[in-house]
Amino acid sequence: MILKKIVGVDLGTDTTQVYLKGVGIVLNEPSIVAFNNRTNRVVAVGLEAKRMLSRTPSHVTALRPITNGVIADFDMAKEMIQRFFKTKTLPWSWFTETIVSVPTNLTEVERKSVEDLFKEIGVSKVYLVEEPIAAALGSGLDIVRPTAHLVVDIGAGTTDMAIISMNGIVVSRRLKIAGDHFNQEIIRGVKDEMKLYIGEPTAEEIKIAVGSAIPQLEKLDIVIRGRDAVSGLPRETSVRDTQARYWLLKSLKVMVDSLKELIDITPPELTGDIYKNGIYLCGGGSLLRGVAPLFEKEIGVKVHLVDEPLLCVIRGVGIIAENMSFYDGVLESFSTPSPIKV
Ligand SMILES: Nc1ncnc2c1ncn2[C@@H]1O[C@H](COP(=O)(O)OP(=O)(O)OP(=O)(O)O)[C@@H](O)[C@H]1O
Ligand SMILES: [Mg+2]
Repeated sequence: MILKKIVGVDLGTDTTQVYLKGVGIVLNEPSIVAFNNRTNRVVAVGLEAKRMLSRTPSHVTALRPITNGVIADFDMAKEMIQRFFKTKTLPWSWFTETIVSVPTNLTEVERKSVEDLFKEIGVSKVYLVEEPIAAALGSGLDIVRPTAHLVVDIGAGTTDMAIISMNGIVVSRRLKIAGDHFNQEIIRGVKDEMKLYIGEPTAEEIKIAVGSAIPQLEKLDIVIRGRDAVSGLPRETSVRDTQARYWLLKSLKVMVDSLKELIDITPPELTGDIYKNGIYLCGGGSLLRGVAPLFEKEIGVKVHLVDEPLLCVIRGVGIIAENMSFYDGVLESFSTPSPIKV
């Protein structure tokens, strides 16, 4: 008898992670594809393609097939996933079932696109789970009990906020303001204030090295290089934490306001639970210094920064993969009619 294999996938805007039932997390790679326009061929995917970002010759494009958590380029996303699995010799066959985490409130077309992608690659069954549910499980929460938890996942493309109780999402919000948007604000700030053009990788470096949501005890700065907006020549300058904080202020305010609005529309009994249980913060964007204390101060509720926040969703998908029958209620499933087409 051929044993059924179960593979969990978090197809993130920034990172794709894969969990293999019985083994653990087996893949963690940037969701990037490098494409050669002359040969119409994919040159590289994942980490190898990320190294090419912003540095490619004109005939090679490094692109991200997932935008704001949604498949934006179907063919590229499919090629990326296929290549990831080839390199890792994962059990990619008609006996493989996949659990894929998806953002809340996807349109039918967007859901179908995720389902089609995995079916075209050749799996027998595709289960979808909403990301906040997976994030809650990956944060170690008991989502089955009749008590509410508020989970905030600040990813690269979206910030998902959801109140979860008894295996389901009671209310949720999805913002297109997250880690990528922070980078865009930094690029804009450096251009406006310092008259210097920088690319996305440098903005990311600034964010990680000196970015913060509230003033920090130690002063931070970083030396960066870019192209002078006036002379067009290369120039070096330094960016301080106070400057980066100012550039990020507006985005963080939108997040705080949305959180307040979400709590405002939450049924009162559940609001009481949130007060008692606190807010669970995860996703890579939550690693920005001072986000948890900022939310705590603005909302007046304890904020728990989850351990290894970048792995939160895939950990939750893994918990579901290991206990499929127990978490049956949180999965939406799609079967492939016949195992003929590959
Ligand atoms: N130390 C850090 N400080 C600030 N931001 C960070 C840090 N480390 C990672 N990030 C940001 O986290 C984001 C990636 O997080 P994550 O992997 O959770 O996103 P994703 O799941 O791929 O995206 P999405 O869920 O929106 O589809 C990136 O924007 C990255 O810049
Ligand atoms: Mg994510």
